[in-house]
Amino acid sequence: MIFKELKEIGPSCFELLLLADPSKKLIDAYLQHSRVFVACRNEEMDGIIVLCKLNNDTVEIKNVAVKPELQGKGIGSFLINNAIAFAENEKYKSICIGTANSSTGQLYLYQKLGFDISEIRHNFFLDHYPEAIYENGLRVKHMLMLIRQLR
Ligand code: ACO
Repeated sequence: MIFKELKEIGPSCFELLLLADPSKKLIDAYLQHSRVFVACRNEEMDGIIVLCKLNNDTVEIKNVAVKPELQGKGIGSFLINNAIAFAENEKYKSICIGTANSSTGQLYLYQKLGFDISEIRHNFFLDHYPEAIYENGLRVKHMLMLIRQLR
């Protein structure tokens, strides 16, 4: 599996990005000032991760997604661990990620990879997404922010 930066964002990228974030409008906005990396095998793009500089100290994982048929095989962990290594190399002090109150699997994964809950953005999804979203039988309402300190 190779981790590499993408310079051009094509339609196949959007198929993945929309799995993590249903708002094309928000994706277009953060892609403008982000760097995009992919996990590739035999030239096939299996997963994607979007990193956006928040300030000189902190970079945020804005979007991480793996092809549905390949989820649960370690590719998401591979992407996040490589993003952590990239951020350390770029001398960031911390890396953060946000996910929904309903995203229990993702919350488990991020904490397993060393992220800690740092903030709750109450009603974030109610305020920023026009349609009601449900996940795991729960209304998607709040954004939980998690942060990991870097070397
Ligand atoms: N439900 C249940 N468990 C999950 C989930 C989930 N949705 N996602 C990850 N896990 C658990 C796995 O069971 C696994 O546990 P284990 O190591 O104890 O076996 C662990 O997390 C690691 O899983 P990986 O195989 O490394 O993760 P994967 O390759 O599936 O990638 C990802 C995780 C990116 C969340 C993927 O499932 C996905 O693309 N989901 C849809 C899009 C999405 O929700 N993206 C994140 C939104 S938040 C954001 O983008 C900032």
